[in-house]
Amino acid sequence: MTPVPEYGLSPPTSYGNIRAVDRECFARVLVTGGCGFIGSALLRRLLAGGVERVVNLDALTYAGRLANQEELAGDPRYRFVHGRVEDVALVRELLEAEAIEAVLHLAAESHVDRSLRAPQIFVTTNVVGTSVLLEAALRAPSVRRFLLLSTDEVYGPTPEGTSFDEGAPLAPTNPYAASKAAADLLAGSYARSFGLDLVVLRSSNNLGPRQAPEKLVPLAILCAREGLPIPIYGDGLQQRDWLHVEDCCTAIGDALARGEAGAVYNLSSGRTCSNLELARGILARLGRGPELCAHVADRPAHDRCYRIDSSRLRRELGWAPAYELERALDATVAWYLDHPAWWQEVREPFRTYYREQYGRSFAGDDLARKDPEDPR
Ligand code: NAD
Ligand code: DAU
Repeated sequence: MTPVPEYGLSPPTSYGNIRAVDRECFARVLVTGGCGFIGSALLRRLLAGGVERVVNLDALTYAGRLANQEELAGDPRYRFVHGRVEDVALVRELLEAEAIEAVLHLAAESHVDRSLRAPQIFVTTNVVGTSVLLEAALRAPSVRRFLLLSTDEVYGPTPEGTSFDEGAPLAPTNPYAASKAAADLLAGSYARSFGLDLVVLRSSNNLGPRQAPEKLVPLAILCAREGLPIPIYGDGLQQRDWLHVEDCCTAIGDALARGEAGAVYNLSSGRTCSNLELARGILARLGRGPELCAHVADRPAHDRCYRIDSSRLRRELGWAPAYELERALDATVAWYLDHPAWWQEVREPFRTYYREQYGRSFAGDDLARKDPEDPR
C-alpha cells in the first residue's frame, strides 16, 4: 500500500473515457524534443523499426543539438522542424500537413538545477507547450494516440522501504517536477474530459549516449576523464533508479503500440543506487580514485529517494530492461570515450555553467592542461 503524503492530488492509475484505436498501426509520428538525449535515441529506434514518417519538432535549446540527429538527415522518411512546442500555428500545421497519427511528446526543459534558477521557462515549455500539443492533437483528425514522457519526480520523495505505484498522489517538490506534474495532469484531463487517446510513461533517471554534460552521469564521466573533481550534492546518499536510454525507448514503443488507452505506466529498472556509488563506479571505470568525489552544497529541495514500481508495465506490456546497471554504465562510459568530437563541441560552453553552478575548480580553471594524448 502506498503511503499518502501530506498533500497531493490523487490521480487514478488510468485516465479513462477513451475512444478506441487501432493500436498496432502508427505509421506517421511526431516526436517532440528529438534533438535531446532520449528523443534522439528514440528517432533512431523508430526509423530502424520501419516507421513510415518521423517528424521531429525541436527548439534546439542548450540541451538539443543538431549533431544528435545528423546521420538521420539523409533519410527521406525523416524531417526535422526547428520550432517550439508552444507555437500553436506551427504545431497545428505540422499535424495536419504530415497527417500525424501519434504524437510522442518528449520536449521539455528537463534539468532540475536550471529550474531552481529560472523556473518560468519550465512553465512555458512544459506546461504551456504540452497544452498546445494536447489541444492540437485533439483537433487533428489524423491523430489517434498521444504519448507523454513524464517522470518519477512527479511523486516527490519516496519514503524509506516503500515504492510508489501509479496510484500514488503527485507531490512534486522542485519547479521542474511541478511543471511535469502539471503537464501529466493536464494530459490526463484531456483523456477524461475529451476522450483523447493518451498513454503516460513516468520514467526514472536515464543514462546513455548524447546526454547534455550538466547531468550527473556525463558530467562525472567528463570530469573523471580530466581528473577534475565531481560535484556531489550534500552527502551523496540520495537514491535514484537508473535506466539505460535504450530500455526507455523500448518502453515507449511498447506503450505506443500496446498501451491501454488512458493508462499511466511507471518505468524503472528497479535498481536504485546512491549518487556517490554511481560516481565511484564511473571513476573506477576511468582508472580514478573516489577522492575525486567533492561534496558541495546540497541542491535545494533535493529529494532523498525516488523508487517507483514498474510492475504494471512489465505485467501488461511484457517490458523488461535489457541492461542491468553495471552494463549500462560500461556502455555509457565507453560511448563518451569513443565520441570525443561529440562532447568537445559542448564542453567549453558548459564550463561557463560549471563555474556559475559549482565554482572555478570544477570548470578546470585551476588545472594545468592535461596531456591531450591521455586516453582517459
Ligand atoms: P533533454 O533536455 O536532453 O532534451 C529536451 C529536448 O527538448 C531538447 O532537444 C530541446 O532542444 C527540446 N526543447 C526544449 N524546449 C523546447 C520547446 N519549447 N519546444 C521544442 N523543443 C524544445 O531531455 P531528455 O533528458 O531527453 O528528456 C526527454 C523527456 O523525458 C523530458 O520530457 C523529460 O522530462 C523526460 N524524462 C527524462 C528523464 C531523464 O532521465 N533524462 C527521466 C524521466 C523523464
Ligand atoms: O528522475 C528522473 C529525472 O532524472 C528526469 O525527470 C530529469 O529530466 C532528469 O534530468 C533527471 O533529473 P535529476 O535531477 O535526477 O538528474 P541529474 O543528473 O541532474 O541528477 C542526478 C542526481 O545526482 C540527483 O540526485 C542530483 C545529483 N547531482 C547532480 C548533479 C548535476 C549531484 O550530486 N551533483 C551534480 O552536479
